[in-house]
Amino acid sequence: MTDHPRYALCGLSNRAIGTFVGALLDSVVPGRPDVERAPGELVAILDADRDRVDQFLAQQENPAIAAYGADEFDRMITEARPDRVIIATPDHSHADYVVAALGHGLDVITEKPMTATAADAARVLAAERDSAGTVTVTHNVRYTPRLQQVKRLIMDGAIGRVLGATLDYHVDTRHGASYFLRWNRTRAASGGLSVHKSCHHLDLVDWLVDDLPVTVYARGGRAFYGPDSPHRPRDEHGAPLTGDWLRAADPYQRAQQGSGTFPDDDHGRTGLAGLSYPVQYPDGQPFTLYDDEIDIEDHYTAVIGYRGGATLAYTIDFSSPWEGYRLGITGSHGRIELDYGHDRDGSPRPGTDQVIVDPLFGERRRLEAAAAQGGHDGADAIMRRDLFVGPTEESRRLGLAATTEQAAYAVAAGEAIWRSARSGSVINIADLLGHDVP
Ligand SMILES: NC(=O)c1ccc[n+]([C@@H]2O[C@H](COP(=O)([O-])OP(=O)(O)OC[C@H]3O[C@@H](n4cnc5c(N)ncnc54)[C@H](O)[C@@H]3O)[C@@H](O)[C@H]2O)c1
Repeated sequence: MTDHPRYALCGLSNRAIGTFVGALLDSVVPGRPDVERAPGELVAILDADRDRVDQFLAQQENPAIAAYGADEFDRMITEARPDRVIIATPDHSHADYVVAALGHGLDVITEKPMTATAADAARVLAAERDSAGTVTVTHNVRYTPRLQQVKRLIMDGAIGRVLGATLDYHVDTRHGASYFLRWNRTRAASGGLSVHKSCHHLDLVDWLVDDLPVTVYARGGRAFYGPDSPHRPRDEHGAPLTGDWLRAADPYQRAQQGSGTFPDDDHGRTGLAGLSYPVQYPDGQPFTLYDDEIDIEDHYTAVIGYRGGATLAYTIDFSSPWEGYRLGITGSHGRIELDYGHDRDGSPRPGTDQVIVDPLFGERRRLEAAAAQGGHDGADAIMRRDLFVGPTEESRRLGLAATTEQAAYAVAAGEAIWRSARSGSVINIADLLGHDVP
């Protein structure tokens, strides 16, 4: 790899703009002054929405960046000659771009989830085996300072052999609702939230437990959003409200007035750098939380079994009064507990500032939780340094970068959750990935 790699980006998404693009430009991306410059340059952007890319290029002082449509991947590689490809499109499209980049022998950085389905994850694993290129999946949660601290404690033997974890995760009414107002709300686009969102949590626990999951049993469903939501505003005859009437009466929208989560009217919405989404969210076709198109779950409870015998008891809901999690790790010699979150007014939840280490036969320690500035509680800046400059010795020791196989298991466990919730059966992850757990 050269000292100054050429990067091509697939998907000029909010995530790409907020996390990667600014690091590869000499100019600052509007609204993202905190992203530090990395070695390398952005030479091409591919997106299904050419208008969106043009809006972005018009903001740049020296836009020596070539633009390509969604079906021009090979042309982009031939003309722009990138050394690495960053993929930050909606989840369902990751696999095709990753496999295409690997076909050119290129290294790929792709957003999580690596793919939207386990079958696509298996396809990526096979393509990587046959390629000179490699895949790096941006499982940024691992980089969160307080979670690195937990990993360090486990590695240093603070609780002995890990027997299992509990993770009780809540996504609040603003953040949770936002998924149902975006492309994420269909299985076809995102794999469902047990893949799209839970892949973060499943990967986190796999990493902490240092093992891969083998079986999943889950329950779950849709209780908050979609056409049958108990919160859906109706008129006196029971007919669903629409348009301005719906906007005025929608309890989620009323609670979030001015937050930017809900488009103010039927006109197209904008994201970071003020870019609109004329293709993805066209004018005059507003998404509501109660649309028939919504076909994914909004809460789950799962029991996950690991190869070595450890377990994860996991719950998540996407319409909670608060945002955050309660994480517990039980070991043969003690327990680690970490509560993290904030209330609707942004105030931290009790316990958010500490990591508790509770040995079976010793003094309880309350450690100040490690923290850092920046996106995703400081995780993104640390991950960006490792991605663009190279991992530090400590990053390697902690195993901060997810392997392609770990990323595939996070997708497969997420798919197993919704499949189990739907069928009532225990799902074997190897059956979804189509190969035996190594
Ligand atoms: N790691 C994290 O913390 C994190 C956070 C947010 C999003 N993400 C991931 O980032 C990715 C982007 O999510 P987002 O919500 O920022 O997206 P977005 O909705 O802001 O943007 C999607 C972009 O992709 C383009 N697009 C859509 N389909 C395409 C296709 N088939 N080919 C090329 N371009 C296409 C759209 O025009 C748009 O520019 C997703 O994979 C998501 O899961 C990760």
